Amino acid sequence: MPFLTACQRFPMSNFASHLHAILADSPAGRLDFARVMDLALYHPELGYYGPGPRRIGRSGDFFTAVSVGPLYGRLLAVLAGQVHRELGEPADFLVIEQAAHDGQLAADLLEVGAFNLCLVEPNPRYEVVQRERLAAHAGRVRWVSQLADLPEVPALFVCNELPDAMPVQLLRWVQGAWRQLLVEINPAGGFCLVPAAIEDPRLAAEAERLPRDLAEGHTLEVGLAALDWLQALAQAPFYGRVWVADYGLDAEERHASQRAAGSLRRYRDHQCDERVLEDLGDCDLTAHVDFSRLREQATACGFAERGYEHQGRRLGRLAVDWLRSLEGRPPDAATSALLRQYQSLTHPAFLGRSFRVLELDKPKRAAATES
Ligand SMILES: C[S@@+](CC[C@H](N)C(=O)[O-])C[C@H]1O[C@@H](n2cnc3c(N)ncnc32)[C@H](O)[C@@H]1O
Repeated sequence: MPFLTACQRFPMSNFASHLHAILADSPAGRLDFARVMDLALYHPELGYYGPGPRRIGRSGDFFTAVSVGPLYGRLLAVLAGQVHRELGEPADFLVIEQAAHDGQLAADLLEVGAFNLCLVEPNPRYEVVQRERLAAHAGRVRWVSQLADLPEVPALFVCNELPDAMPVQLLRWVQGAWRQLLVEINPAGGFCLVPAAIEDPRLAAEAERLPRDLAEGHTLEVGLAALDWLQALAQAPFYGRVWVADYGLDAEERHASQRAAGSLRRYRDHQCDERVLEDLGDCDLTAHVDFSRLREQATACGFAERGYEHQGRRLGRLAVDWLRSLEGRPPDAATSALLRQYQSLTHPAFLGRSFRVLELDKPKRAAATES
């Protein structure tokens, strides 16, 4: 079908027109999925996250632990107190947050904690929103646009749902070989995925690590961007503790036959499906974090793993003192609201089991030796 006829029959969004133009200029009219996902999420004008923070929560497309309410921030403030004590109560201790979105978690942390905060925010439009949101705490917050610009201070670094929002490559097991899925224009003028030989040596090396006894068609996401991010985090100047909370899977879960379709999904209006090439730019795209690979990468980058467990168990331990303080007295309305948040964050049927927390110890950088 001629290209123009197809476009006329299927009116395209601005993002789809943009992608059509890029594909037309690409070798063989194809792009790897990570590049398409990166554009669909982070194009400054047409991407889902590019123009500014979307609403998260009931009136948005999905919930996060942050949008459940302030309890998550309060429990992270408890962790900050523990890490601060463990590091010897240094005066220059910071809490660092990346993926601060509209500043909600930062506000919740600052409300209850005595520490200063630093946000890692590459998107200037987000920084504007965060500055407005945190205006009441102006003297306690600073911003950097990349990890390398963080100060060399003792710190707790936190991120909630960051690596799941990073672009992934798609690999599919086809006739005894791992093949990469590329995006191209289909005959109807939409987009489709086609298997192709893996040309990127890094991706080929990741494919080498995968099992070769999976069923025909088993599809897996490979998050090179998340691996690069962890490397950059390891090289950042701060030291102390790292908290990575996200939904994710271990290798054996990813390779189970029930998960043969992979975990890549799109979210819109609290609906989730696998039609990831439709309404690009208007939907969140996300894949479960490959925690097995992330943990290997963390160790290889020089972090020491401090813990890895279901969010419900980890937050439960952080909440012990608070829960004990409630014993023997009927909860008032505010406490009842926090207890409902606790249920949402920790119950296995809600966020308690599908979300996992990876905690890493980040050593102080060795002082440069004089030559
Ligand atoms: C699923 S949202 C999570 C937002 C928030 N942390 C929460 O839990 O409600 C993913 C966020 O990651 C942000 N993000 C993606 N890559 C980033 C990066 N390299 N640095 C900072 N933020 C990033 C996006 O802008 C978006 O706000």
